[in-house]
Amino acid sequence: MKKHIKNNVYWIGKMDWELESFHGADYSINHGSSQNAYLIQEEKTVLIDTVWLPHSTEFVDNLQSEIDLNSIDFIVMNHGEVDHSGGLPELMEKIPDTPIYCTASCVKSLVGQYHHPEWNFKVVKTGDSIDIGNGKKLIFVEMKMLHWPDSMATYMTEDNILFSNDAFGQHYAVEELFNDKADFCHLWAEAMKYYANILNPFSPLVKKKIEEIQSLNLPIDIIATSHGAIWSDNPMQIVEKYYEWSQNYKENQITIAYDTMWDGTKKLAHKIGREISRISPDTKVKIFNIANHDKNDIMTEVFKSKAIAVGSPTVNQGILSSVAGWLDFLKELRFKEKRAAVFGCYGWSGESTKLLRERLESAGFDVIEPEVKCNWNPDEDDFNKATEIAKALCQDTN
Ligand code: FEO
Repeated sequence: MKKHIKNNVYWIGKMDWELESFHGADYSINHGSSQNAYLIQEEKTVLIDTVWLPHSTEFVDNLQSEIDLNSIDFIVMNHGEVDHSGGLPELMEKIPDTPIYCTASCVKSLVGQYHHPEWNFKVVKTGDSIDIGNGKKLIFVEMKMLHWPDSMATYMTEDNILFSNDAFGQHYAVEELFNDKADFCHLWAEAMKYYANILNPFSPLVKKKIEEIQSLNLPIDIIATSHGAIWSDNPMQIVEKYYEWSQNYKENQITIAYDTMWDGTKKLAHKIGREISRISPDTKVKIFNIANHDKNDIMTEVFKSKAIAVGSPTVNQGILSSVAGWLDFLKELRFKEKRAAVFGCYGWSGESTKLLRERLESAGFDVIEPEVKCNWNPDEDDFNKATEIAKALCQDTN
């Protein structure tokens, strides 16, 4: 069933309440999600994006129940990733000659995934437009690396709708579609999680793109994202928030992330946390066992933090695999202007703090000198060193 957005524009996507993870298992979904596709029925009928591959048949059946598929004049693919292009192969079997407007990179991604070079691609770049009748146009804006090279947004004149695709979205199911109907806390938490875990590596480009869009002075009444709530109530609030988030965002928070074998490293983690609270009561402290907590949620807390402390015991001259994998993910997200400290227990060789230090430096963190390299279980001297870490993190970042 299509749902009304504005005038002759409708939502025709998939409200995916059952989704539990995204990008394989790399992104946790806790409140459902959606793949938002849109149908424009002006003098021209235009479909913007489709849905994820497993929902392809449902999508095409749904579309067919609303319109004659042969009445679709154009398809706009803002992005080739399978959560938006998955409905395309089944749809194109029914309407094989329909023009598909997308970027040159999107042609590559669609052909690479679905092996149909014969599809009627129309390559567009920033500033290109198509008339859709009734005095309205669709104008294309490349959104390179936000978050794929092929990403694009489409602006509809007169109705002033920006179909932004992934940008400004959230993995969050809002059956009523619009941001003013969403649970406020969930909406903002999911928007930040999405930014921290997907868009943060491209923050300099986010900043530039927002400045470019603002300089065009386009009236924007609705930001129609491809996931989660559609921003219709004060849509520019999410643009302003993205601008703030894109500039090495931090709050007065320190996050401690660790894993432990026999609880020695855990004791140090909690000692550092207690000491930060004692030394700087206004600083928020969050403590997570990396093996037991959702990695995306921890990354969102890192995004908010001005500093982190990371702990692992030494195992087989290395660090725990949970911490090693988490550090790989941390590096991918390219956080900047954040400090870090390292700590960990060992029995025999004690490489963990050196390895943690190297890994955090290569992930772009400024690692402070004080550390706790504790032989066996922490004693008073080790707890004093934990206090030194807390002091240094508070001093360095206040
Ligand atoms: Fe929602 Fe990049 O796909």
